[in-house]
Amino acid sequence: MKLTWFRKGTIYQIYPRSFNDSDNDGVGDLKGIIEKLDYIKSLYVDIIWLSPIFSSPNDDNGYDISDYCSIMPEFGTMEDFDELLKETHKRGMRLILDLVANHCSDEHNWFEEAKKSKNSPYRDYFHWRKPGPDGGVPNNWKSFFGGSAWELDEASGEYYLHLFTKKQPDLNWENPKVREEIYNAMRFWLDKGVDGFRMDVIPLISKPLGYPDAPDFGFRKIIEEVYANGPTVHKYLKEMNEEVISKYDAFSLAEGVGIDDSKAGLYVNEDRNELDMLYHFDILECTIVNGKFEEVSPFNLIQMKEIFKKWRDAVHRTGWIANAMGNHDFARMVSRFGDDNKYHSESAKMLITMLSTQNGTLNIYQGDEIGMTNISLNNIDQVRDVQSLNFYSENQLTKRYSEDLALQMINKEGRDNARTPIQWNDEINGGFSLNEPWLKSNPNYKNINVKNQNHDSTSILNFYRNLLKTRREHDVFVFGDFEEIEFDNPNLYIYKKTLGEDKIMVLLNFSSSEESYYYGSRSSIANGSKVLINNYDDLLLDDKSIVLKPYQGVILDL
Ligand code: GLC
Repeated sequence: MKLTWFRKGTIYQIYPRSFNDSDNDGVGDLKGIIEKLDYIKSLYVDIIWLSPIFSSPNDDNGYDISDYCSIMPEFGTMEDFDELLKETHKRGMRLILDLVANHCSDEHNWFEEAKKSKNSPYRDYFHWRKPGPDGGVPNNWKSFFGGSAWELDEASGEYYLHLFTKKQPDLNWENPKVREEIYNAMRFWLDKGVDGFRMDVIPLISKPLGYPDAPDFGFRKIIEEVYANGPTVHKYLKEMNEEVISKYDAFSLAEGVGIDDSKAGLYVNEDRNELDMLYHFDILECTIVNGKFEEVSPFNLIQMKEIFKKWRDAVHRTGWIANAMGNHDFARMVSRFGDDNKYHSESAKMLITMLSTQNGTLNIYQGDEIGMTNISLNNIDQVRDVQSLNFYSENQLTKRYSEDLALQMINKEGRDNARTPIQWNDEINGGFSLNEPWLKSNPNYKNINVKNQNHDSTSILNFYRNLLKTRREHDVFVFGDFEEIEFDNPNLYIYKKTLGEDKIMVLLNFSSSEESYYYGSRSSIANGSKVLINNYDDLLLDDKSIVLKPYQGVILDL
Protein backbone atom coordinates (compact mmCIF):
# COMPACT_ATOMS: atom_id res chain seq x y z
CA MET A 1 0.00 0.00 0.00
CA LYS A 2 1.17 3.48 -0.79
CA LEU A 3 2.07 5.78 2.07
CA THR A 4 -0.20 8.62 0.90
CA TRP A 5 -0.32 11.96 2.74
CA PHE A 6 -3.39 10.99 4.68
CA ARG A 7 -2.01 7.61 5.73
CA LYS A 8 1.25 9.00 6.91
CA GLY A 9 -0.15 12.14 8.45
CA THR A 10 -1.01 12.99 12.02
CA ILE A 11 -4.57 14.17 12.54
CA TYR A 12 -5.32 16.69 15.27
CA GLN A 13 -8.95 16.91 16.26
CA ILE A 14 -10.38 20.25 17.31
CA TYR A 15 -13.62 20.54 19.22
CA PRO A 16 -14.24 24.16 18.23
CA ARG A 17 -16.57 24.99 21.10
CA SER A 18 -13.75 24.39 23.57
CA PHE A 19 -10.66 25.39 21.64
CA ASN A 20 -10.18 29.15 21.76
CA ASP A 21 -12.70 31.93 22.23
CA SER A 22 -11.60 35.02 20.27
CA ASP A 23 -14.64 37.20 21.03
CA ASN A 24 -15.03 36.31 24.70
CA ASP A 25 -18.60 35.08 24.57
CA GLY A 26 -17.67 31.86 26.38
CA VAL A 27 -17.76 29.71 23.23
CA GLY A 28 -14.75 28.87 21.07
CA ASP A 29 -14.85 30.05 17.45
CA LEU A 30 -13.18 29.91 14.04
CA LYS A 31 -11.17 33.09 14.56
CA GLY A 32 -9.91 31.52 17.78
CA ILE A 33 -8.66 28.57 15.77
CA ILE A 34 -6.95 30.85 13.24
CA GLU A 35 -5.10 32.54 16.11
CA LYS A 36 -3.69 29.17 17.11
CA LEU A 37 -2.70 27.73 13.72
CA ASP A 38 0.98 28.36 14.31
CA TYR A 39 0.69 26.50 17.59
CA ILE A 40 -0.95 23.54 15.83
CA LYS A 41 1.73 23.55 13.19
CA SER A 42 4.37 23.54 15.90
CA LEU A 43 3.07 20.12 16.95
CA TYR A 44 4.06 18.59 13.59
CA VAL A 45 0.42 17.97 12.80
CA ASP A 46 -0.51 17.37 9.15
CA ILE A 47 -4.30 17.33 9.15
CA ILE A 48 -6.80 19.22 11.28
CA TRP A 49 -10.21 17.62 11.85
CA LEU A 50 -12.86 20.08 12.96
CA SER A 51 -15.83 18.75 14.87
CA PRO A 52 -19.05 20.17 13.33
CA ILE A 53 -19.06 23.90 12.60
CA PHE A 54 -22.40 24.05 10.78
CA SER A 55 -25.62 25.74 11.87
CA SER A 56 -27.17 23.77 14.68
CA PRO A 57 -29.47 24.26 17.66
CA ASN A 58 -26.73 22.46 19.62
CA ASP A 59 -28.77 19.77 21.25
CA ASP A 60 -25.68 17.60 20.74
CA ASN A 61 -23.13 20.40 20.24
CA GLY A 62 -23.31 20.60 16.47
CA TYR A 63 -23.86 16.89 15.79
CA ASP A 64 -27.43 17.98 15.03
CA ILE A 65 -27.08 20.01 11.85
CA SER A 66 -29.81 22.37 10.67
CA ASP A 67 -28.00 23.58 7.54
CA TYR A 68 -25.10 21.66 6.04
CA CYS A 69 -23.76 24.58 4.01
CA SER A 70 -23.60 27.34 6.58
CA ILE A 71 -21.51 28.20 9.62
CA MET A 72 -22.89 28.20 13.15
CA PRO A 73 -23.15 31.93 14.01
CA GLU A 74 -21.57 31.34 17.44
CA PHE A 75 -18.48 30.09 15.60
CA GLY A 76 -18.29 32.92 13.07
CA THR A 77 -19.01 33.47 9.39
CA MET A 78 -18.29 31.85 6.06
CA GLU A 79 -15.55 34.46 5.55
CA ASP A 80 -13.94 33.27 8.77
CA PHE A 81 -14.10 29.72 7.48
CA ASP A 82 -12.56 30.68 4.13
CA GLU A 83 -9.76 32.40 5.96
CA LEU A 84 -9.23 29.43 8.25
CA LEU A 85 -8.96 27.11 5.27
CA LYS A 86 -6.59 29.45 3.46
CA GLU A 87 -4.37 29.95 6.50
CA THR A 88 -4.31 26.22 7.22
CA HIS A 89 -3.21 25.43 3.68
CA LYS A 90 -0.70 28.25 3.75
CA ARG A 91 1.01 26.49 6.63
CA GLY A 92 1.16 23.22 4.73
CA MET A 93 -1.58 21.55 6.74
CA ARG A 94 -4.87 20.07 5.56
CA LEU A 95 -8.36 20.52 6.93
CA ILE A 96 -11.18 18.00 7.17
CA LEU A 97 -14.75 18.59 8.30
CA ASP A 98 -17.13 16.43 10.28
CA LEU A 99 -19.88 15.05 8.07
CA VAL A 100 -22.91 14.07 10.10
CA ALA A 101 -24.91 12.23 7.48
CA ASN A 102 -26.81 9.61 9.45
CA HIS A 103 -29.12 12.22 10.92
CA CYS A 104 -29.77 15.94 10.91
CA SER A 105 -31.47 18.31 13.35
CA ASP A 106 -35.23 18.36 13.84
CA GLU A 107 -34.81 22.07 13.10
CA HIS A 108 -33.46 21.36 9.62
CA ASN A 109 -35.87 22.59 7.03
CA TRP A 110 -36.15 19.02 5.65
CA PHE A 111 -37.61 17.78 8.91
CA GLU A 112 -39.77 20.83 9.47
CA GLU A 113 -41.29 20.28 6.01
CA ALA A 114 -41.57 16.52 6.52
CA LYS A 115 -43.62 17.04 9.65
CA LYS A 116 -46.14 19.25 7.90
CA SER A 117 -47.86 16.44 6.04
CA LYS A 118 -47.59 12.78 5.18
CA ASN A 119 -47.59 13.90 1.54
CA SER A 120 -44.74 16.32 1.92
CA PRO A 121 -41.94 15.67 -0.61
CA TYR A 122 -39.63 15.64 2.42
CA ARG A 123 -41.61 13.03 4.36
CA ASP A 124 -39.54 10.22 2.91
CA TYR A 125 -36.29 11.90 3.92
CA PHE A 126 -36.83 10.28 7.33
CA HIS A 127 -37.94 6.96 8.81
CA TRP A 128 -41.62 7.03 9.76
CA ARG A 129 -43.55 4.10 11.21
CA LYS A 130 -47.04 3.52 12.44
CA PRO A 131 -47.45 2.64 16.13
CA GLY A 132 -46.62 -0.94 17.12
CA PRO A 133 -49.30 -3.61 17.76
CA ASP A 134 -49.82 -2.39 21.32
CA GLY A 135 -50.36 1.16 20.13
CA GLY A 136 -46.92 2.29 21.37
CA VAL A 137 -43.48 2.55 19.77
CA PRO A 138 -42.97 0.56 16.54
CA ASN A 139 -40.19 -1.64 17.95
CA ASN A 140 -37.89 -2.05 20.94
CA TRP A 141 -34.93 -0.03 19.63
CA LYS A 142 -33.18 2.10 22.21
CA SER A 143 -31.44 5.37 21.50
CA PHE A 144 -27.69 5.66 22.09
CA PHE A 145 -28.52 8.38 24.56
CA GLY A 146 -31.22 6.54 26.54
CA GLY A 147 -34.93 5.92 26.07
CA SER A 148 -36.71 4.69 22.95
CA ALA A 149 -35.27 5.45 19.51
CA TRP A 150 -38.76 6.44 18.33
CA GLU A 151 -40.62 9.68 18.96
CA LEU A 152 -44.28 10.22 18.29
CA ASP A 153 -45.27 12.99 15.92
CA GLU A 154 -48.66 13.87 17.40
CA ALA A 155 -50.00 15.52 14.27
CA SER A 156 -49.67 12.47 12.03
CA GLY A 157 -49.85 9.77 14.70
CA GLU A 158 -46.62 8.27 13.29
CA TYR A 159 -43.26 7.75 14.95
CA TYR A 160 -39.92 8.88 13.53
CA LEU A 161 -36.60 7.17 14.18
CA HIS A 162 -33.78 8.86 16.07
CA LEU A 163 -30.87 6.67 17.10
CA PHE A 164 -29.50 9.63 19.05
CA THR A 165 -31.56 12.39 20.74
CA LYS A 166 -35.11 13.09 19.62
CA LYS A 167 -33.75 16.28 18.09
CA GLN A 168 -31.58 14.17 15.74
CA PRO A 169 -33.97 12.39 13.34
CA ASP A 170 -32.27 9.70 11.24
CA LEU A 171 -32.10 10.38 7.52
CA ASN A 172 -33.50 7.79 5.14
CA TRP A 173 -30.58 6.84 2.91
CA GLU A 174 -32.78 4.59 0.80
CA ASN A 175 -34.18 7.78 -0.68
CA PRO A 176 -31.90 8.84 -3.57
CA LYS A 177 -32.81 12.48 -2.96
CA VAL A 178 -31.33 12.28 0.55
CA ARG A 179 -28.12 10.87 -0.81
CA GLU A 180 -27.94 13.57 -3.45
CA GLU A 181 -28.49 16.29 -0.83
CA ILE A 182 -25.62 14.92 1.26
CA TYR A 183 -23.33 14.52 -1.76
CA ASN A 184 -24.10 18.09 -2.80
CA ALA A 185 -23.21 19.36 0.65
CA MET A 186 -19.94 17.43 0.47
CA ARG A 187 -19.20 18.92 -2.96
CA PHE A 188 -19.91 22.39 -1.61
CA TRP A 189 -17.10 22.06 0.94
CA LEU A 190 -14.74 20.09 -1.29
CA ASP A 191 -15.09 22.73 -3.99
CA LYS A 192 -13.97 25.28 -1.42
CA GLY A 193 -10.86 23.16 -0.97
CA VAL A 194 -11.42 21.09 2.17
CA ASP A 195 -9.36 17.93 2.20
CA GLY A 196 -11.93 15.37 3.28
CA PHE A 197 -14.32 14.36 5.99
CA ARG A 198 -14.50 12.56 9.26
CA MET A 199 -17.73 10.64 8.88
CA ASP A 200 -19.90 10.55 11.94
CA VAL A 201 -21.53 7.16 12.76
CA ILE A 202 -21.40 6.31 9.07
CA PRO A 203 -21.92 2.54 9.55
CA LEU A 204 -25.47 3.32 10.74
CA ILE A 205 -26.83 4.84 7.52
CA SER A 206 -28.53 1.66 6.29
CA LYS A 207 -31.28 0.28 8.53
CA PRO A 208 -32.26 -3.39 8.65
CA LEU A 209 -35.20 -4.22 6.41
CA GLY A 210 -38.53 -4.07 8.16
CA TYR A 211 -37.08 -2.56 11.36
CA PRO A 212 -37.12 -5.86 13.32
CA ASP A 213 -37.01 -5.88 17.11
CA ALA A 214 -33.48 -6.10 18.49
CA PRO A 215 -32.63 -9.39 20.21
CA ASP A 216 -31.96 -9.31 23.91
CA PHE A 217 -28.23 -8.59 23.55
CA GLY A 218 -26.05 -6.08 25.38
CA PHE A 219 -26.22 -2.65 23.74
CA ARG A 220 -22.83 -2.96 22.06
CA LYS A 221 -23.88 -6.15 20.28
CA ILE A 222 -27.17 -4.57 19.29
CA ILE A 223 -25.22 -1.77 17.63
CA GLU A 224 -23.03 -4.25 15.76
CA GLU A 225 -25.77 -6.59 14.68
CA VAL A 226 -28.85 -4.43 14.30
CA TYR A 227 -28.07 -0.73 13.90
CA ALA A 228 -24.78 -0.85 12.01
CA ASN A 229 -23.68 -2.69 8.86
CA GLY A 230 -27.14 -2.64 7.25
CA PRO A 231 -27.91 -4.29 3.91
CA THR A 232 -27.18 -1.28 1.68
CA VAL A 233 -24.33 0.39 3.58
CA HIS A 234 -21.58 -0.73 1.19
CA LYS A 235 -23.58 0.15 -1.89
CA TYR A 236 -23.99 3.73 -0.66
CA LEU A 237 -20.42 4.12 0.54
CA LYS A 238 -19.18 3.01 -2.87
CA GLU A 239 -21.57 5.40 -4.53
CA MET A 240 -20.41 8.24 -2.28
CA ASN A 241 -16.82 7.45 -3.04
CA GLU A 242 -17.36 7.18 -6.76
CA GLU A 243 -19.52 10.27 -7.11
CA VAL A 244 -17.80 12.55 -4.65
CA ILE A 245 -14.63 11.71 -2.73
CA SER A 246 -12.71 10.09 -5.58
CA LYS A 247 -13.13 13.21 -7.69
CA TYR A 248 -11.00 15.24 -5.29
CA ASP A 249 -7.64 14.93 -3.56
CA ALA A 250 -9.52 14.15 -0.37
CA PHE A 251 -10.00 11.31 2.07
CA SER A 252 -12.54 9.87 4.44
CA LEU A 253 -12.01 8.92 8.07
CA ALA A 254 -14.94 6.92 9.37
CA GLU A 255 -16.12 6.69 12.90
CA GLY A 256 -16.15 2.91 13.05
CA VAL A 257 -19.05 2.45 15.43
CA GLY A 258 -20.39 -1.10 15.28
CA ILE A 259 -17.52 -2.37 13.11
CA ASP A 260 -15.44 -5.19 14.52
CA ASP A 261 -12.18 -6.43 13.03
CA SER A 262 -13.92 -9.12 11.01
CA LYS A 263 -15.91 -6.51 9.08
CA ALA A 264 -13.19 -3.87 8.86
CA GLY A 265 -11.92 -4.91 5.45
CA LEU A 266 -15.36 -4.49 3.93
CA TYR A 267 -15.15 -0.79 4.71
CA VAL A 268 -11.50 0.10 4.34
CA ASN A 269 -9.82 -2.37 2.04
CA GLU A 270 -8.21 -0.32 -0.67
CA ASP A 271 -9.66 -2.30 -3.56
CA ARG A 272 -13.24 -1.79 -2.37
CA ASN A 273 -13.20 1.97 -2.95
CA GLU A 274 -15.42 2.83 -0.01
CA LEU A 275 -13.69 4.56 2.90
CA ASP A 276 -10.03 5.45 3.27
CA MET A 277 -9.74 4.58 6.93
CA LEU A 278 -11.70 4.16 10.12
CA TYR A 279 -11.05 4.43 13.81
CA HIS A 280 -12.54 1.60 15.78
CA PHE A 281 -14.05 1.50 19.25
CA ASP A 282 -12.23 -1.48 20.72
CA ILE A 283 -9.55 0.57 22.46
CA LEU A 284 -11.78 3.55 23.14
CA GLU A 285 -14.31 1.31 24.85
CA CYS A 286 -12.01 -1.29 26.36
CA THR A 287 -12.85 -0.29 29.92
CA ILE A 288 -16.55 -0.03 29.28
CA VAL A 289 -18.29 -3.32 29.89
CA ASN A 290 -21.90 -2.35 29.51
CA GLY A 291 -23.32 1.04 28.61
CA LYS A 292 -21.21 4.13 28.92
CA PHE A 293 -21.35 4.68 32.64
CA GLU A 294 -22.15 1.39 34.30
CA GLU A 295 -19.82 -1.56 34.78
CA VAL A 296 -16.49 0.03 34.05
CA SER A 297 -13.59 -2.40 34.28
CA PRO A 298 -9.97 -1.49 35.08
CA PHE A 299 -7.73 -1.11 32.08
CA ASN A 300 -5.84 -4.29 31.16
CA LEU A 301 -2.66 -4.12 29.09
CA ILE A 302 -2.80 -7.63 27.64
CA GLN A 303 -6.30 -7.00 26.39
CA MET A 304 -5.05 -3.80 24.77
CA LYS A 305 -2.18 -5.60 23.04
CA GLU A 306 -4.64 -8.15 21.72
CA ILE A 307 -6.88 -5.44 20.33
CA PHE A 308 -4.02 -3.68 18.56
CA LYS A 309 -2.86 -7.00 17.16
CA LYS A 310 -6.20 -8.15 15.83
CA TRP A 311 -6.81 -4.84 14.08
CA ARG A 312 -3.32 -4.86 12.63
CA ASP A 313 -3.96 -8.31 11.22
CA ALA A 314 -7.41 -7.36 9.98
CA VAL A 315 -6.14 -4.68 7.60
CA HIS A 316 -2.60 -5.92 7.01
CA ARG A 317 -1.50 -4.79 3.52
CA THR A 318 -5.10 -4.52 2.38
CA GLY A 319 -6.70 -1.63 4.21
CA TRP A 320 -6.02 1.16 6.65
CA ILE A 321 -7.04 2.40 10.09
CA ALA A 322 -6.44 5.42 12.26
CA ASN A 323 -5.42 5.00 15.90
CA ALA A 324 -7.00 7.01 18.69
CA MET A 325 -7.15 6.69 22.45
CA GLY A 326 -9.39 9.64 23.05
CA ASN A 327 -11.69 12.15 21.42
CA HIS A 328 -14.65 14.38 22.30
CA ASP A 329 -16.77 11.31 23.16
CA PHE A 330 -14.54 9.76 25.82
CA ALA A 331 -12.91 10.67 29.07
CA ARG A 332 -9.33 11.95 28.89
CA MET A 333 -6.70 9.51 27.69
CA VAL A 334 -4.19 10.12 30.48
CA SER A 335 -6.89 9.71 33.16
CA ARG A 336 -8.19 6.46 31.65
CA PHE A 337 -5.03 4.68 30.57
CA GLY A 338 -2.25 6.43 32.45
CA ASP A 339 -1.93 8.14 35.79
CA ASP A 340 -3.22 11.70 36.06
CA ASN A 341 -1.57 12.12 39.44
CA LYS A 342 1.95 11.11 40.48
CA TYR A 343 3.10 9.97 37.02
CA HIS A 344 1.07 12.43 35.01
CA SER A 345 3.85 13.62 32.77
CA GLU A 346 5.57 10.24 32.39
CA SER A 347 2.39 8.35 31.58
CA ALA A 348 1.06 10.96 29.13
CA LYS A 349 4.36 10.74 27.23
CA MET A 350 4.49 6.95 27.36
CA LEU A 351 0.95 6.63 25.97
CA ILE A 352 1.64 8.79 22.95
CA THR A 353 4.88 6.87 22.37
CA MET A 354 2.77 3.75 22.07
CA LEU A 355 0.03 5.27 19.95
CA SER A 356 2.40 6.92 17.51
CA THR A 357 4.18 3.63 16.83
CA GLN A 358 1.05 1.62 16.03
CA ASN A 359 0.49 1.00 12.35
CA GLY A 360 -1.96 3.47 10.90
CA THR A 361 -2.71 7.17 10.85
CA LEU A 362 -2.16 8.84 14.19
CA ASN A 363 -5.23 10.61 15.49
CA ILE A 364 -4.75 12.90 18.47
CA TYR A 365 -7.24 15.01 20.33
CA GLN A 366 -6.85 18.63 21.42
CA GLY A 367 -5.39 19.07 24.87
CA ASP A 368 -3.83 15.62 25.06
CA GLU A 369 -0.58 17.22 23.97
CA ILE A 370 -0.41 18.99 27.33
CA GLY A 371 -1.84 16.03 29.25
CA MET A 372 -5.24 17.55 30.02
CA THR A 373 -7.07 15.39 32.55
CA ASN A 374 -10.63 14.51 33.55
CA ILE A 375 -12.58 17.10 35.47
CA SER A 376 -14.57 16.48 38.63
CA LEU A 377 -17.91 18.30 38.39
CA ASN A 378 -19.54 18.55 41.79
CA ASN A 379 -23.07 19.36 40.75
CA ILE A 380 -25.30 18.11 37.94
CA ASP A 381 -25.96 21.75 36.99
CA GLN A 382 -22.37 21.93 35.76
CA VAL A 383 -22.82 18.99 33.37
CA ARG A 384 -23.45 19.98 29.74
CA ASP A 385 -23.28 16.75 27.75
CA VAL A 386 -26.67 15.49 26.62
CA GLN A 387 -25.66 11.84 26.99
CA SER A 388 -24.66 12.36 30.64
CA LEU A 389 -27.73 14.47 31.38
CA ASN A 390 -30.04 11.84 29.90
CA PHE A 391 -28.35 9.14 31.93
CA TYR A 392 -28.81 11.23 35.06
CA SER A 393 -32.47 11.97 34.48
CA GLU A 394 -33.26 8.38 33.55
CA ASN A 395 -31.61 7.34 36.79
CA GLN A 396 -33.78 9.82 38.70
CA LEU A 397 -36.78 7.81 37.50
CA THR A 398 -35.36 4.33 38.02
CA LYS A 399 -33.43 5.27 41.18
CA ARG A 400 -30.97 2.54 40.30
CA TYR A 401 -28.03 4.49 41.69
CA SER A 402 -27.91 7.26 44.28
CA GLU A 403 -27.57 10.75 42.79
CA ASP A 404 -24.05 10.96 44.14
CA LEU A 405 -23.05 7.72 42.51
CA ALA A 406 -24.65 8.73 39.20
CA LEU A 407 -22.59 11.93 39.24
CA GLN A 408 -19.46 9.96 40.09
CA MET A 409 -20.11 7.72 37.08
CA ILE A 410 -20.51 10.78 34.87
CA ASN A 411 -17.26 12.18 36.23
CA LYS A 412 -15.48 8.95 35.41
CA GLU A 413 -16.58 8.27 31.84
CA GLY A 414 -18.70 11.26 30.76
CA ARG A 415 -17.95 13.21 27.59
CA ASP A 416 -17.57 16.57 29.31
CA ASN A 417 -14.20 15.35 30.58
CA ALA A 418 -12.79 15.80 27.10
CA ARG A 419 -14.69 18.97 26.34
CA THR A 420 -13.42 21.36 29.00
CA PRO A 421 -11.79 24.46 27.52
CA ILE A 422 -8.20 24.20 26.34
CA GLN A 423 -5.80 25.40 29.00
CA TRP A 424 -3.68 28.03 27.27
CA ASN A 425 -2.21 29.71 30.34
CA ASP A 426 -2.74 30.19 34.08
CA GLU A 427 -4.94 33.26 33.77
CA ILE A 428 -8.72 33.40 34.12
CA ASN A 429 -10.44 30.33 32.56
CA GLY A 430 -7.03 29.10 31.49
CA GLY A 431 -6.84 31.82 28.85
CA PHE A 432 -9.69 30.28 26.87
CA SER A 433 -12.08 33.18 27.37
CA LEU A 434 -12.49 36.24 29.56
CA ASN A 435 -16.10 35.31 30.01
CA GLU A 436 -17.53 32.29 31.76
CA PRO A 437 -17.02 29.34 29.41
CA TRP A 438 -20.00 27.26 28.26
CA LEU A 439 -18.46 24.37 30.24
CA LYS A 440 -16.37 24.92 33.33
CA SER A 441 -12.59 25.03 32.87
CA ASN A 442 -10.64 22.37 34.68
CA PRO A 443 -9.20 24.18 37.74
CA ASN A 444 -5.87 22.43 37.16
CA TYR A 445 -5.19 24.97 34.38
CA LYS A 446 -3.06 26.75 36.95
CA ASN A 447 -0.44 24.04 36.49
CA ILE A 448 -1.32 22.24 33.30
CA ASN A 449 -1.29 24.74 30.47
CA VAL A 450 0.33 25.47 27.13
CA LYS A 451 2.22 28.52 28.33
CA ASN A 452 4.00 26.64 31.12
CA GLN A 453 4.90 23.79 28.85
CA ASN A 454 5.89 25.74 25.78
CA HIS A 455 9.36 26.68 26.93
CA ASP A 456 10.00 23.75 29.23
CA SER A 457 12.09 21.29 27.27
CA THR A 458 10.94 18.42 29.50
CA SER A 459 7.21 19.12 29.11
CA ILE A 460 4.60 16.80 27.64
CA LEU A 461 4.05 19.37 24.90
CA ASN A 462 7.67 19.38 23.79
CA PHE A 463 7.77 15.62 24.03
CA TYR A 464 4.84 15.44 21.58
CA ARG A 465 6.62 17.84 19.24
CA ASN A 466 9.81 15.85 19.26
CA LEU A 467 8.00 12.54 18.90
CA LEU A 468 5.78 13.66 16.03
CA LYS A 469 8.74 15.20 14.25
CA THR A 470 10.66 11.95 14.64
CA ARG A 471 7.65 10.01 13.41
CA ARG A 472 7.59 12.11 10.25
CA GLU A 473 11.19 11.15 9.57
CA HIS A 474 10.70 7.40 10.09
CA ASP A 475 8.06 5.62 8.02
CA VAL A 476 8.72 2.53 10.10
CA PHE A 477 6.64 4.09 12.91
CA VAL A 478 3.59 4.17 10.67
CA PHE A 479 4.14 1.21 8.51
CA GLY A 480 6.69 -1.28 9.84
CA ASP A 481 6.16 -5.01 10.28
CA PHE A 482 5.47 -5.82 13.89
CA GLU A 483 7.19 -8.33 16.14
CA GLU A 484 5.75 -8.60 19.64
CA ILE A 485 8.00 -9.48 22.54
CA GLU A 486 6.78 -10.90 25.85
CA PHE A 487 3.18 -10.64 24.73
CA ASP A 488 1.96 -12.09 28.03
CA ASN A 489 3.75 -9.55 30.20
CA PRO A 490 0.96 -7.64 32.01
CA ASN A 491 3.06 -4.51 32.64
CA LEU A 492 5.40 -4.18 29.70
CA TYR A 493 4.49 -3.64 26.06
CA ILE A 494 7.54 -4.34 23.91
CA TYR A 495 7.76 -4.65 20.15
CA LYS A 496 10.11 -4.34 17.26
CA LYS A 497 9.18 -2.81 13.95
CA THR A 498 10.97 -3.24 10.66
CA LEU A 499 10.66 -1.49 7.34
CA GLY A 500 13.46 -2.33 4.92
CA GLU A 501 16.69 -1.31 6.64
CA ASP A 502 14.89 0.72 9.27
CA LYS A 503 14.39 -1.12 12.58
CA ILE A 504 13.08 0.22 15.84
CA MET A 505 12.29 -1.28 19.21
CA VAL A 506 9.61 0.20 21.44
CA LEU A 507 9.66 -0.49 25.18
CA LEU A 508 6.81 0.74 27.33
CA ASN A 509 6.17 0.31 31.02
CA PHE A 510 2.49 0.59 31.86
CA SER A 511 3.02 0.25 35.61
CA SER A 512 4.04 2.50 38.47
CA SER A 513 6.90 0.22 39.47
CA GLU A 514 10.28 -0.49 37.91
CA GLU A 515 10.11 -3.40 35.48
CA SER A 516 12.94 -5.30 33.82
CA TYR A 517 13.14 -6.83 30.42
CA TYR A 518 15.84 -9.52 30.06
CA TYR A 519 17.03 -9.89 26.53
CA GLY A 520 19.87 -12.22 27.39
CA SER A 521 22.21 -12.72 24.52
CA ARG A 522 20.78 -10.09 22.22
CA SER A 523 23.38 -7.66 23.41
CA SER A 524 23.33 -5.75 20.12
CA ILE A 525 20.51 -3.81 21.72
CA ALA A 526 22.92 -2.50 24.31
CA ASN A 527 25.77 -1.97 21.91
CA GLY A 528 24.58 -0.73 18.62
CA SER A 529 21.29 1.00 19.28
CA LYS A 530 20.55 4.64 19.53
CA VAL A 531 17.85 6.13 21.76
CA LEU A 532 15.40 7.95 19.50
CA ILE A 533 12.78 8.76 22.12
CA ASN A 534 12.83 8.50 25.89
CA ASN A 535 10.47 10.07 28.41
CA TYR A 536 13.16 9.95 31.13
CA ASP A 537 16.66 11.44 31.03
CA ASP A 538 18.34 8.08 31.17
CA LEU A 539 17.91 4.44 30.36
CA LEU A 540 19.22 1.68 32.60
CA LEU A 541 20.57 -0.92 30.24
CA ASP A 542 23.37 -3.47 30.26
CA ASP A 543 24.19 -6.38 28.02
CA LYS A 544 21.48 -8.56 29.56
CA SER A 545 18.57 -6.36 30.46
CA ILE A 546 16.81 -3.06 30.40
CA VAL A 547 15.20 -1.66 33.52
CA LEU A 548 12.24 0.55 32.79
CA LYS A 549 11.19 3.11 35.37
CA PRO A 550 7.51 3.77 36.18
CA TYR A 551 5.69 4.57 32.93
CA GLN A 552 8.94 4.81 31.04
CA GLY A 553 8.59 4.75 27.27
CA VAL A 554 11.56 4.38 24.94
CA ILE A 555 12.11 3.99 21.23
CA LEU A 556 15.45 2.56 20.15
CA ASP A 557 16.81 2.77 16.65
CA LEU A 558 18.35 -0.69 16.21
C1 GLC B 1 -20.81 10.50 17.06
C2 GLC B 1 -20.19 11.75 17.61
C3 GLC B 1 -20.89 12.10 18.89
C4 GLC B 1 -22.33 12.35 18.59
C5 GLC B 1 -22.96 11.18 17.86
C6 GLC B 1 -24.27 11.56 17.23
O1 GLC B 1 -20.62 9.42 17.88
O2 GLC B 1 -18.82 11.58 17.75
O3 GLC B 1 -20.31 13.20 19.53
O4 GLC B 1 -23.03 12.59 19.78
O5 GLC B 1 -22.16 10.72 16.81
O6 GLC B 1 -24.04 12.42 16.15
